[in-house]
Amino acid sequence: MKSIKYANRIDKIEKSELRKIFDKAPSKSINLGLGEIQFPTPKIISDKAIDVIKQQNIRYTPNAGLPDLQKAITNYYNIKLNGNVCVTTGAEEAIFASLFSFVNPGDEVLIANPTYIAYKTIIKMLDAIVVEFDLNPELGFKLNQNDFSSKITSKTKVLLLNNPSNPTGKCFSEDEVNFMISKCIDNNILIIVDEIYRELFIKYKPMSFLEKRGKIIVISGLSKSHCMSGWRIGWAASIDPDLIKPIIVSHQYICTCAPHISQEIAVTALSRKGMIAQNKIRKELIANRDFVLDQFKHFLPDISVLKNTSSPYLFFNVAVDDITFTNEMLKQGLIVMPGSIFGSNGKQWIRLNYALNKKKLAKGIDIIKSININNI
Ligand SMILES: Cc1ncc(COP(=O)(O)O)c(C=O)c1O
Repeated sequence: MKSIKYANRIDKIEKSELRKIFDKAPSKSINLGLGEIQFPTPKIISDKAIDVIKQQNIRYTPNAGLPDLQKAITNYYNIKLNGNVCVTTGAEEAIFASLFSFVNPGDEVLIANPTYIAYKTIIKMLDAIVVEFDLNPELGFKLNQNDFSSKITSKTKVLLLNNPSNPTGKCFSEDEVNFMISKCIDNNILIIVDEIYRELFIKYKPMSFLEKRGKIIVISGLSKSHCMSGWRIGWAASIDPDLIKPIIVSHQYICTCAPHISQEIAVTALSRKGMIAQNKIRKELIANRDFVLDQFKHFLPDISVLKNTSSPYLFFNVAVDDITFTNEMLKQGLIVMPGSIFGSNGKQWIRLNYALNKKKLAKGIDIIKSININNI
């Protein structure tokens, strides 16, 4: 029998570089490459899940999510609930549903170089055009304002940002934010901001773009903040319900609703007690970060580490080819991510995730310490 031809759009989806690296890794490698917080989910959240199961009443929910959860989300942002929230199956679905709802084939979507890898693929899946603007690695990944302005055309439909950033762990400065927003207002560009790492701040909680004026959709979720990646809870929220309306329609046909059980426990996660548990995760991450920074300072003083403001990523410059460096680490049983997979400006940079138990983390750092970078 002849094979069945895949849809053309599947050709646009390459196996992610990240996956390729995982596939090459020897079994039992230490994994500092994942984009996951590898701590247990807080007990108060898991206990709630057991209570919900016992009620034997797990059903469909309204498409936009349980009203209590929508309310908890608007309370979190300190905004009014008025049809302006859509609870999704993880932030990833919120990104997809938002772009699916606003972007036509041929539209241009502005993304940072470097940024989260999934954005490019989703834009391409929608037959839209990826347009990258520069964050300058020599200036601590500062926004290049001239480059940003020059990338805006009559076809620019959306600016898709990630704040704090994966992979750099940095937030845009107030000036950078105001600059981008004013350009988008002037050019009628929709801003979509993925704030999934917002609660993992080191010193000061970053502002949310929902505090700003403009056509803005904020995306977030509980995978990172509450170590709930497997529960698949995300959302899209806006001040303007008209921006969320088409996302609820798309979401309805993508998956009907986010899992009911996960939505119930998400209400607990966003409660006062849930946020106290969340703060413990944040502090544990800071302790891990302090440990890693101390190790770098004492044993790897020639490696320059980016001064960033959020967990769980340490972004550092190895001054050699980042892919070669990553492959060398893989041979030694350590997975880290080469910066260039997030965009060409990440060349020679490495992303290390320190959100795992201290023992494994220390072992991983020992491997980096044992390598003579000059021989790479
Ligand atoms: C920037 C960014 N956005 C979204 C996601 C996906 O989040 P979720 O698990 O909520 O789908 C990730 C996961 O690594 C991420 O790094």
